[in-house]
Amino acid sequence: MPHQLEALKRTIQQHEDWRLGECLNLIPSENRGSDLMKSMYLTDFGNRYTAPDRFYRGTRYADELVAQTQEIARKVFNARYADVSLLSGHVANAAVLLALTRPGDRVASTSPDDGGYPGISQDGLGGLLGLQNVYFPYDRAAVGVDLAGSVELLKSEKPAVAFFGASHIVFPYPVRRLSDAAEGVCVYDGSHVLGLIAGGEFQDPLREGCPILIGSTHKSLPGPQGGIILSNNEEAFEAVSGKVFPGVVDNVHLNRVAALAVSLIEMQEFGKQYAQAVVKNAQALANALAAEGVNVRGAGQGYTRSHQVLLDYDQARLKPLSVRLEQANIIVDEAGRVGTAEATRMGYGPGEMEAVAELMAMVILGKKAPDFVQKKVKTLVKQFQQPRFVL
Ligand SMILES: Cc1ncc(COP(=O)(O)O)c(C=O)c1O
Repeated sequence: MPHQLEALKRTIQQHEDWRLGECLNLIPSENRGSDLMKSMYLTDFGNRYTAPDRFYRGTRYADELVAQTQEIARKVFNARYADVSLLSGHVANAAVLLALTRPGDRVASTSPDDGGYPGISQDGLGGLLGLQNVYFPYDRAAVGVDLAGSVELLKSEKPAVAFFGASHIVFPYPVRRLSDAAEGVCVYDGSHVLGLIAGGEFQDPLREGCPILIGSTHKSLPGPQGGIILSNNEEAFEAVSGKVFPGVVDNVHLNRVAALAVSLIEMQEFGKQYAQAVVKNAQALANALAAEGVNVRGAGQGYTRSHQVLLDYDQARLKPLSVRLEQANIIVDEAGRVGTAEATRMGYGPGEMEAVAELMAMVILGKKAPDFVQKKVKTLVKQFQQPRFVL
């Protein structure tokens, strides 16, 4: 065997042994796919093309697969239209902005400084497309946009597109009130909370005034990495979906679509139970962390109604904290977001969340060395090796 191949196999094995077998994965952007979902990556669909213009022959089953997946997506999200060909949530954002804005237009969203998605800011698509980003005033104590100020901003700035949803998101957005005030198109970026929306938890943007719901399919939704566009509004959907092929997507990645279909069927079967368990776990974790003396945002509102718990330390402190947590095999990002979607998927309940909080607190408050905590984390993780809520 060429030595590169041996090295490659070793790297993959080491990653899986460590991240799956020994780590407590608490990144809210990640999740664990079922074995059935993962098996879909390995079929022949991963080597085939199809395209909406019917350029390729031999696509009868590929086209059936896409149609079936869109049908399931429409059911899960109670939407008239679905496009499952997006390669990621970011690509879905690109389709939205290409369809609904012209250079110079204003786009409203939550500022990256307040947990908004940086990919649509001047550093990302906003800058690339010559747009002007305007940001909703934010109420830090309430961990959400300031409603009156945001209504005022929508009226005075008249953005072409208003994005609701964010990367740091613990409470629902006041979508109905904001969409009533908006003259442009309201888009809910549900990348983080899509699994909760699928399970009927958190909020229901398509029925609260957003003609378009987009998102990643792999954060709280335990699907393959990818993106989706959902809508009940023909005109808005046609416009956004019209930028997909041959604009932001050429090749649909059919094996990913098949994997998405599996996770959507899982959501149909178990979505409600799963989403409720995710939120319950997040609340249990937040309460237990606070009881341990860890600073958690949103105390006045019960900490969280999503899959996220936000640690309340300044950025200069959060980064080294995330490094120390990693030394203890507790994996979070360096913004202090802690997610319960993957742990819930692996069968952790509120009791285990208390144990997790205790372990995190040992590291965060410097009560124990990371090596000491790492041993306890490994013992805990070994007990939760099979995804739940699976077919
Ligand atoms: C709110 C939001 N939208 C979009 C994205 C991009 O998603 P993806 O990684 O699927 O491109 C992210 C990424 O974390 C996000 O937080």
